[in-house]
Amino acid sequence: MKLLVYGAGVCGSLFSARLHEAGLDVSLLARGERLASLRRHGVQLAEEDSPAVRRVPVPVVEHPADGYDLTAVLVRTHQVDAVLASLADLEGDVLFLHNWAAGAEPLGAAIGHERVLLGFPPAQAGGTMDGDVVRYRATNFMTGRVPMPIGEPDGRTTPRLERIVREFRTAGINAKAEPRMDAWLKTHAAFALPLGQAVHAAGGPVALAGDPDAVRGMLHLMRQYLAAMPTPPVPHAFAALRTLPEGLLVTLLRRFLRSPTAVHSGLSDVSPATAAELGRLAEQMRAHAKVR
Ligand SMILES: NC(=O)c1ccc[n+]([C@@H]2O[C@H](COP(=O)([O-])OP(=O)(O)OC[C@H]3O[C@@H](n4cnc5c(N)ncnc54)[C@H](OP(=O)(O)O)[C@@H]3O)[C@@H](O)[C@H]2O)c1
Repeated sequence: MKLLVYGAGVCGSLFSARLHEAGLDVSLLARGERLASLRRHGVQLAEEDSPAVRRVPVPVVEHPADGYDLTAVLVRTHQVDAVLASLADLEGDVLFLHNWAAGAEPLGAAIGHERVLLGFPPAQAGGTMDGDVVRYRATNFMTGRVPMPIGEPDGRTTPRLERIVREFRTAGINAKAEPRMDAWLKTHAAFALPLGQAVHAAGGPVALAGDPDAVRGMLHLMRQYLAAMPTPPVPHAFAALRTLPEGLLVTLLRRFLRSPTAVHSGLSDVSPATAAELGRLAEQMRAHAKVR
């Protein structure tokens, strides 16, 4: 399978490096200074605060093209429209791996419904950019068990879905076919949007953990979004955010915000790109959930 990873930020860099090291035929699409840096040094990876930087020579390209069996898109929500325009006249399946609460319809309308697959980056592809170096937290017992969900928009199990899952699993990525991928993404947004907005307002996860009232407000918004969903949450465990006592959830959320997992993830990124992504995701959520 010939793969293109579209977007050379944190998730695209980690994902493509993982696939390349596993021997898959993968190229990474980048632009601007990031493209120049990748051409010079390859993907540069470092664990948490470690000074040791590892270089992975993933082939880099500047433009999408025909000839790829699968293009995996790992950009921010507000950057997807431009990506769709660049893929519209090409062929090949496209797997969208990012925050997205607007369903498959607008993606398919732009590039052809038969080309679209939905998913979310693997838990092992989280981290932060430190200049040109991607800093990530090594897989632990918990994150290694979290599957990377991938699905057809209509929930079917198709030969192409099985093949993609198999290829990723061969590369050591815990991929799993998810029949309710749209509900999964909306559930994730119901959690991640209030979390991201509250972290951004506080200035980081640890600062938010120190403000229990803000954590309580964030939890109320998560509950409103989950209540407004057209389907039960996927995975079902997210229903606990509506049923467990508020005090217990605030304690657990504050503990999570102080954890190394939260600190060494995209949650610590309070850049303008994060704000723009949250803004676009909020629009998508408001379109199907009546939440202010
Ligand atoms: N980071 C995490 O820990 C994490 C974890 C789970 C999920 N996610 C989600 O995964 C998605 C990707 O996140 P990320 O952290 O990888 O974002 P990111 O670091 O901002 O990477 C996005 C990359 O895509 C590039 N890009 C965007 N549009 C492009 C275009 N038209 N042509 C070429 N390159 C383009 C960006 O380039 P520019 O910089 O030039 O715009 C950037 O390098 C988001 O939805 C995010 O919320 C992130």
